[in-house]
Amino acid sequence: MNDEDTAKPLLSVRDLRIDYRTGAGRTVNAIRGVDFDLYPHQSLALVGESGCGKSTLALGLMRLLPKLGRIPSGSVTYRDPNGKTYDVLDLSTDRLRQWRWSEVAMVFQGAMNAFNPVLKIVDQFADTMKAHAPKGKKFSKNEIYDRAAATLESVRLEPKRVLPSYPHELSGGMRQRVLIALSLLLKPQVLVLDEPTTALDLLTQRAIVDMLHELRAELGFAMIFVSHDLPLASELADRVATMYAGRIIESGTTRDTFMTPRHPYTRGLIKAVPPVRAAALEPTSIPGSPPDLAALPTGCTFRARCEYAIDECETTDPGLELIAERDRGVNHEAACIRWQTVHLEPEEAKR
Ligand SMILES: Nc1ncnc2c1ncn2[C@@H]1O[C@H](COP(=O)(O)OP(=O)(O)O)[C@@H](O)[C@H]1O
Ligand SMILES: [Mg+2]
Repeated sequence: MNDEDTAKPLLSVRDLRIDYRTGAGRTVNAIRGVDFDLYPHQSLALVGESGCGKSTLALGLMRLLPKLGRIPSGSVTYRDPNGKTYDVLDLSTDRLRQWRWSEVAMVFQGAMNAFNPVLKIVDQFADTMKAHAPKGKKFSKNEIYDRAAATLESVRLEPKRVLPSYPHELSGGMRQRVLIALSLLLKPQVLVLDEPTTALDLLTQRAIVDMLHELRAELGFAMIFVSHDLPLASELADRVATMYAGRIIESGTTRDTFMTPRHPYTRGLIKAVPPVRAAALEPTSIPGSPPDLAALPTGCTFRARCEYAIDECETTDPGLELIAERDRGVNHEAACIRWQTVHLEPEEAKR
């Protein structure tokens, strides 16, 4: 990839919408028009409370939605290493299988479910290589073993011990490392991780985060990191997108978003993080909960919980507005008509 190509996005998502058909003819509009560009080597964190659509967005990008999920509109344009671009939503099932893993790989929430419990780790590697290899490419047993061993070493696991084991014989942290190794096996340009450390204890989380940092520096992949854990996200990501009710409502560099949040929701999420030095203090969580996606209120979807809301918020459904221009798709943007007051305390902003 030359310099000119790093100035072009790897992934461009435009007006993506994702619905779930649930019982009784109800439709949940889980993703309601999302746009973003991911550039080479970037690390983007998707943050927000549970139910905001983070997993749906990650799964939708890779066309891994459950049966009831569908994509009524939008595009996901991917640029391959040769500079060719295509819409992932148009790929045939066969092409899609090759695309996943070799171009964009994903590590899911919950490491145990991702494995076949009756297969040794070495066979999980063999299956993955066979299933996602480029057309016509066959791997010998030795090739598979060597490739698996090298990838396991890169995630600091001992191949001799891990390859002959069954998933249940490994600790949670080791399983998560194996999953990361598996995802990197075919050297993808993009790695999508959905809450990769959520089920792990703090020390193991720390080790995985450090490892991801090192791997990214070494291998140069771009990353989409889904997390409800803001401190973790701010460590791993160079840019952050806050999601609320199926949309990105703020986006910017990690620094812009955390130092000067412009959407009251992002501000609230940051305030809810317990200060490390006063861990005994209760974090102030945002009162209320996200709206029902099958029956959205008029106006701004956050207004019922918003300390900055004014009458106009009942009738205006704000889109992302440019706040500060930055490079490579990381402009600071927020979807709030009150963004100019969000640096103030709510009582001051009312005046
Ligand atoms: N398989 C599904 N069927 C129906 N609704 C779903 C399904 N998965 C998620 N949803 C709904 O879509 C919305 C977004 O969920 P999700 O993407 O899991 O959010 P997050 O990952 O941010 O917690 C929620 O309202 C959730 O109830
Ligand atoms: Mg999720």
